[in-house]
Amino acid sequence: MSTTRFLSGIKPTGAPHLGNYVGMIRPAVAASRQPGVESFYFLADYHALIGSDDPERIHRSTLEIAATWLAVGLDPDHVVFYRQSDIPEIPKLNWLLSCVTGKGLLNRAHAYKAAQDRNAAAGRDADDGVSVGLYMYPVLMAADILLFKADKVPVGRDQIQHVEIARDIAASFNHLYGEHFVPPEAVIDEQVATLAGLDGRKMSKSYDNTIPLFSSRDQLQKLIAGIQTDSRAPGEPKETEGSALFQIFQAFATPGQAADLRRRYAEGIAWGEAKALLLDQVDGALAPARARYEALIAEPGRIEDVLLDGAERARAIATPFIQELRAAVGLRSLRTQALAPPKAAPAKAQQPAVFKQYRGSDGRFYFKLVGAQGRLLLQSRGFAAPRDAGQAIARLQRKGEAALAALAGQIDTAATADVAPQDLAAALQSLGA
Ligand code: TRP
Repeated sequence: MSTTRFLSGIKPTGAPHLGNYVGMIRPAVAASRQPGVESFYFLADYHALIGSDDPERIHRSTLEIAATWLAVGLDPDHVVFYRQSDIPEIPKLNWLLSCVTGKGLLNRAHAYKAAQDRNAAAGRDADDGVSVGLYMYPVLMAADILLFKADKVPVGRDQIQHVEIARDIAASFNHLYGEHFVPPEAVIDEQVATLAGLDGRKMSKSYDNTIPLFSSRDQLQKLIAGIQTDSRAPGEPKETEGSALFQIFQAFATPGQAADLRRRYAEGIAWGEAKALLLDQVDGALAPARARYEALIAEPGRIEDVLLDGAERARAIATPFIQELRAAVGLRSLRTQALAPPKAAPAKAQQPAVFKQYRGSDGRFYFKLVGAQGRLLLQSRGFAAPRDAGQAIARLQRKGEAALAALAGQIDTAATADVAPQDLAAALQSLGA
């Protein structure tokens, strides 16, 4: 059986909460144990520097997040678990990728656009407070992913665009220098529910409604006491639907235990009693991991060893690959023979654009037209069959601009609202020849 390589980065910013655990950490650890899967998980500490000026916090979080993953069962013998900043090949690749990435591609990245929108709303200069680090965030992330030829990148919805940017960058590099990179695909776990927080909204640091994952039993009790409930008295039937308390219970219970609590809700359980049950359930489920966590935190040297061992294994892959890439772009020892005569400058005017076909995470078949430096020129909607996508491409290649009208319903025009029609027309024309 061939293995699929999964890779994901975890930004060490602050201690994780129950929502992070249920939504991300627990499913990732479970996924790493599946057969046919090879997992690379790393602490994205370079990314954590963006927008942070608190060295102690970065340092402390790195320890806490590493200890958390190990405590909840990530097996570092089985998973390559490392720290981004221990892999010098990542910033090296970051530069090689920067040189094939269009600035326009990064202009469209959500995080950067959001920062600009906030500035505009506040009447400030568009780039006020925006570091080049924030701007380059997607390129660094592409380096993380492409360096290890990851097939699948499990991420939250907010990161899908970043994985797509990594695909675009990979395509640009491959187009210029040969097929070195594997195009990665984002995977979003549709099953995983977001956990409700103390106030019933999604549990999130930005709402200040979280329960830290490794709270002591006492802290847990205090926080659970603060979970919002309605005013129904003991004896009055209660609904599980929309009950944060029930939802958190369910995330830590077997289906049988959840069914029991559902029955007790219908029978009119008192909120105080339901909270006591929740406390026992969460505390019981997490106590063993909490004990391991505390033992690990007390011995940071052990965690350091685990991470350094992971970095060594990661570098066994990264070091030869970055050599290959350096050679591909022309960064070679002068002792090597001048192998090939210098390649004619890539004829930009002749081949400014390429069609790419791919399968979306929704299972449908798509194509897009990508111009110089990864610029998106045309984006299709999903087709049921790859052949349909292929036919649409063939038509565009044969007829150029004239085919657009017939394909109108199959083109996602909003995706390329910033592309001037004459640019698209010129790109299509160049392909037909
Ligand atoms: N940007 C990701 C986040 O904020 C973290 C991350 C960095 C990452 N590099 C990555 C995720 C590579 C997946 C793959 O959550």
